[in-house]
Amino acid sequence: MVTLEQAGSTNDVAYARAEAGEPMPLAVRALEQSAGRGRRGRGWVSPRGGVWLSVAGTWPGVVVPGAVALRSALAVWVAVAAELGADAAGRLRIKWPNDLLLDGKKIAGVLCERRVTGDGSVVAVIGVGVNADIENGELPTDVRTPATSLRSVLGRGVDADAIAGRLVSGLYGVLERSDSPMEQGEVRAVVDRLAYLDEPVRFERVGGGVVEGVLAGLSPDGRAAVRVGDSLEWVVAGDVDRAAAGSAGDSADRAR
Ligand code: BTN
Repeated sequence: MVTLEQAGSTNDVAYARAEAGEPMPLAVRALEQSAGRGRRGRGWVSPRGGVWLSVAGTWPGVVVPGAVALRSALAVWVAVAAELGADAAGRLRIKWPNDLLLDGKKIAGVLCERRVTGDGSVVAVIGVGVNADIENGELPTDVRTPATSLRSVLGRGVDADAIAGRLVSGLYGVLERSDSPMEQGEVRAVVDRLAYLDEPVRFERVGGGVVEGVLAGLSPDGRAAVRVGDSLEWVVAGDVDRAAAGSAGDSADRAR
């Protein structure tokens, strides 16, 4: 893993290094980012003390993007849970597809991207941000999901280097398996850690459209199952939140 004092976005640096011919998989970490990027065009505030890193690998011909997203989330869960310890790890949940919530607040996020290089090959980049050894006061407040940090929750300093090391080995494993759907054991591992399971939720689909119902589970290719009345809807890509009280999600819940 290369560690830089500063970068715009480690996703961009990882991609540039891959395109320049560095052997893959490769990992790039920055101690701070000036132009960190989040999912769906959002920004990502990245002060010193957080873990901001990206891995890049060759994108195989057949890819299951939803499985890559959820496996990445599981790798982040494992890396962060080790710092939290067994008691607090139960409070760490995966918010579909790959946010990590601690006590309902966002503590980490994942940005999976793929780009075509000049020679026509495709590079996969998985970028992870963990609000590790920083204070809550350094995090933005104008965000859709309130954020928190490990340092604030634990009330002590955090070993950001150890988290980074665990993340890289977990994410290399994700890159290796990017052409296969999740096995049943992996689906179960994510579902066991899933935020809002069996609760009324509201999905905003990428490309438009809203699905409200009860979060019922996941498929091996990473889709979210939503029970709407008596039927099951599947969401491939989007954002999920708890449904507001009195919404259609509540009535779907009552209908179960
Ligand atoms: C999200 O939750 O919206 C995804 C956040 C991903 C942030 C990480 S920090 C390291 C890497 N570089 C970036 O510019 N973004 C990802």
